[in-house]
Amino acid sequence: SGCNSESRGALVVLEGLDRSGKTSQSSRLLTYLEGLGHSVELWRFPDRSTNVGQMISSYLSNKSQLDDHTIHLLFSANRWEKRSLMETKLKTGTTLIVDRYSYSGVAFSSAKGLGDEWCKAPEIGLLAPDLVFYLDIQPEKAAERGGYGDEKYERLEFQRKVSQCYQVLHDASWKIVDACQPIEDIEKQLQELVLECVMACQKGKPLANLWS
Ligand code: TMP
Repeated sequence: SGCNSESRGALVVLEGLDRSGKTSQSSRLLTYLEGLGHSVELWRFPDRSTNVGQMISSYLSNKSQLDDHTIHLLFSANRWEKRSLMETKLKTGTTLIVDRYSYSGVAFSSAKGLGDEWCKAPEIGLLAPDLVFYLDIQPEKAAERGGYGDEKYERLEFQRKVSQCYQVLHDASWKIVDACQPIEDIEKQLQELVLECVMACQKGKPLANLWS
């Protein structure tokens, strides 16, 4: 195993509603791939460490108000500001496990009533994931898990709409995983699929751009 410096890393994205388990599964995947000797990093969007990320964070915690279009473009800008580093990492052999990506951008904004095509437009040209996991959970079940904080979108009514928008958005390539299974079962399923994907990328699967 291990990774040779000629081969590229994989772009692996986890999507799902708030409280679907993305964050714990992302860190388990990181540990798993590291254990196999792969070069791997865990990323998340929004990346709150940048200036744009701080504007997003302030919006999410209701400390500032922004027009729906404006916050949509900030989420997108937050991915664009990381695009070149993302490409460099992938091309130099590092696999990226990414907790939320463009699909969150489209699902959450279209749940507010913005048009799908309008939401997708600023995402065009970002790197396309090699693998997308959708941690599938009913909004009611996610809400029962508790831990909904005070952030803007953490309300059942809104999560129901987001869930519907994700249904429209996903395509046949997504791996839909039942997020109500025991954590270890989910982990096992992700491990198998991620390994296949990492291998395919090592063997030269080309990097692509959204939406393709
Ligand atoms: P987080 O809880 O995963 O940090 O995400 C914060 C919230 O931001 C979450 O409710 C999903 C939402 N979101 C968007 O609305 N658009 C986006 O592009 C992203 C990445 C997240």
